[in-house]
Amino acid sequence: MKDNLLFLIACISGLRPLTVYGADVNYTFNIANSAVAPDGFRRIGVIVNGAFPGPLIQAQKTDTLHITVNNQLTNANMRRSTTIHWHGLFQSRTASEDGPAGVNQCPISPGHSYTYDIPLNGQAGTFWYHSHLSSQYVDGLRGALVIYDPQDPHRGLYDIDDANTVITLADWYHTAAPALQEVYIHGNGGGNHEPVPDAGLINGSGRYIGGPLVARSRVDVVAGKRYRLRVINISVYSGYEFSIEGHRLTIIEVDGINHVPFTVDRFEIYAGQRYSVILTANQPVRNYWIRAPMELQHASDNDNLDTEKVYAILHYAGAPAGDPSTKPGSPSGTLLEEHLLAPLENPGAPGGNRPADRTIDLNFQRDNDGQTEWTVNGIRYESPGVPTLLNVIANGFTTEADFKPSEHTFVLNKDQIIDLVIHGSANGHTHACSIPTPVEAINDGPTSLHGHAFDIIQGESGPVNYVNPPRRDVVGVKGSTVIIRFKTDNPGPWFLHCRTSPRDYEFTNR
Ligand SMILES: *[C@@H]1O[C@H](CO)[C@@H](O)[C@H](O)[C@H]1NC(C)=O
Ligand SMILES: *[C@@H]1O[C@H](CO)[C@@H](O)[C@H](O)[C@H]1NC(C)=O
Ligand SMILES: *[C@@H]1O[C@H](CO)[C@@H](O)[C@H](O)[C@H]1NC(C)=O
Repeated sequence: MKDNLLFLIACISGLRPLTVYGADVNYTFNIANSAVAPDGFRRIGVIVNGAFPGPLIQAQKTDTLHITVNNQLTNANMRRSTTIHWHGLFQSRTASEDGPAGVNQCPISPGHSYTYDIPLNGQAGTFWYHSHLSSQYVDGLRGALVIYDPQDPHRGLYDIDDANTVITLADWYHTAAPALQEVYIHGNGGGNHEPVPDAGLINGSGRYIGGPLVARSRVDVVAGKRYRLRVINISVYSGYEFSIEGHRLTIIEVDGINHVPFTVDRFEIYAGQRYSVILTANQPVRNYWIRAPMELQHASDNDNLDTEKVYAILHYAGAPAGDPSTKPGSPSGTLLEEHLLAPLENPGAPGGNRPADRTIDLNFQRDNDGQTEWTVNGIRYESPGVPTLLNVIANGFTTEADFKPSEHTFVLNKDQIIDLVIHGSANGHTHACSIPTPVEAINDGPTSLHGHAFDIIQGESGPVNYVNPPRRDVVGVKGSTVIIRFKTDNPGPWFLHCRTSPRDYEFTNR
């Protein structure tokens, strides 16, 4: 929400269908203005099938997802059109199913339905989905998506990986998103405009100061077993530092990409990021604190928010019900440094250490002159009236000059090495930047997929690395310069953004 920077990367060349194998996996999402109370405060949201977070989507890597979205939204205080983005899925040859309103599709208007058909083409990992219309996902349209790999190279490292080992971290607001956005853009008379959430939730349960003692989420384990926990940050504004009392965590997957196992005591998780970690239940049978203190600026602006006491419970079979008898304490021990992570398969940035074919500098600036605006290279993004993909396919747009400057469209040739040099803003705000649909190496055929997101050649810390840099699809950018590299071999218009845009448009009739 705070970094409303949006960017387009269009990578134009033939869009062609790929042969599909595997099963059809169907979900129906009825999206309505239901009442929910994840932290004990009842409010109307933009809710999938009556609960927050939305349903967990599960499939195998050779399957095709068919997700039918029935838009039943009626509440005029929130956005009533909708679209859904499936964060991290490559969408090779299915750019039309990617979701961003104004880029890949027109919004689904109230009373209408749309079915997203997404062949997974062998891609596996931990993902999430969310509304990609303005800031609508703040109101609740978010959930987890897990694609399983029967040939997982890490399979020997864990015993259990199922719905109960998926852990979402979310921030939650008592106020509807359009009202928060108004304060964000135009201010409230005070100094800070960022909408600070009312509560932090682990797996959809949390508490706010003065609110009811909502039951904490509980992860059940059996002594001696090894669990693959899939931790997903589905927040709007907050990062978290995740740890489990008395247990180390071995990271094996980062944003859908397998990495060399790396053991830490705690890790930070930014916007949209995911980690699979192995937890071995090798401690005495009792209850332990799962801790995810929130990291966000100006937290004290909201008296409801307790950033520290964001807890869930790790419960060993045989232990009594209820909270652990220990004090939650302060997490300590080794904190993950991202630059120490290395991909398990095909490490190395595309092109090695040779210069990129094209280098694009992105300067993020925030202007607080009366209204909050984020710009990239001095231009504020405005969602176009006609989606980018439609302009490419139907209107023959092929060059950057065909698009308006405010669309920020870069047209990239196929099979080129691209460096994005992202300069953090001077005020040290953290951006969590993603190209929601990453752009690398889909070889033809479901079995030879080498799914690549981007390589972080230069992260927030650590040396420049072309040999085995971390590979993921969301990178945190604080005050310094971060360089990410990818190869353009997935044709289509792809959106690069850092948070959501508070300004775009809505089609109410079609
Ligand atoms: C799943 O959805 C697809 C596409 O909408 C449809 O063709 C198929 O019949 C559905 N399968 C089931 C079991 O409903
Ligand atoms: C956490 O949420 C996921 C769905 O988002 C669910 O499948 C899982 O059972 C939940 N786990 C716990 C421990 O509540
Ligand atoms: C997760 O954490 C970061 C911290 O920077 C936050 O900005 C982000 O919006 C959070 N939410 C999501 C969806 O990742």
